[in-house]
Amino acid sequence: MSPLFSGASRVPNRDIELSGVRLRQGDTVWLCYGSANHDEAEFDRPEIYDFDRPAHGRLAFGTGRHACSGSAFAPQIARIALEELLARHPRIRLEPDHEIIVRGWMFRGATELPVRMPR
Ligand code: HEM
Repeated sequence: MSPLFSGASRVPNRDIELSGVRLRQGDTVWLCYGSANHDEAEFDRPEIYDFDRPAHGRLAFGTGRHACSGSAFAPQIARIALEELLARHPRIRLEPDHEIIVRGWMFRGATELPVRMPR
């Protein structure tokens, strides 16, 4: 899932055709990383969080010369946060019967994530 679902744009500097769509020089093209990362032509069962899915390129941090400058840093923040959480609460579990609702167009994430912390 792309935490930054959408929000960046690009402007073609010449007329081009992309996947059968004609884009004219100067058009604004709104990018949707979240949709690209769920492209059924690229990912088998894209809605499933599959640890065993073979490694595959994705666009969570964008690509090209304006790709995210924090793409090496951000995963380390997440790693440290998870390590600290699991060290303090090693038995933490997702609340099994709670549906996880994801919202957001530019920034995207679960609206809430109820957990159990058995002692
Ligand atoms: C999970 C966390 C993050 C995600 C998913 C994320 C994602 C993205 C995406 C999709 C873009 C747009 C790339 C494009 O236009 O093609 C971007 C741009 C950018 N990000 Fe991040 N980002 C994250 C964290 C960070 C952090 C921690 C920093 C800084 C320490 C950062 C700094 C930047 C900067 C400076 C740009 C603009 C790059 C440019 O336009 O040249 N990001 N990010």
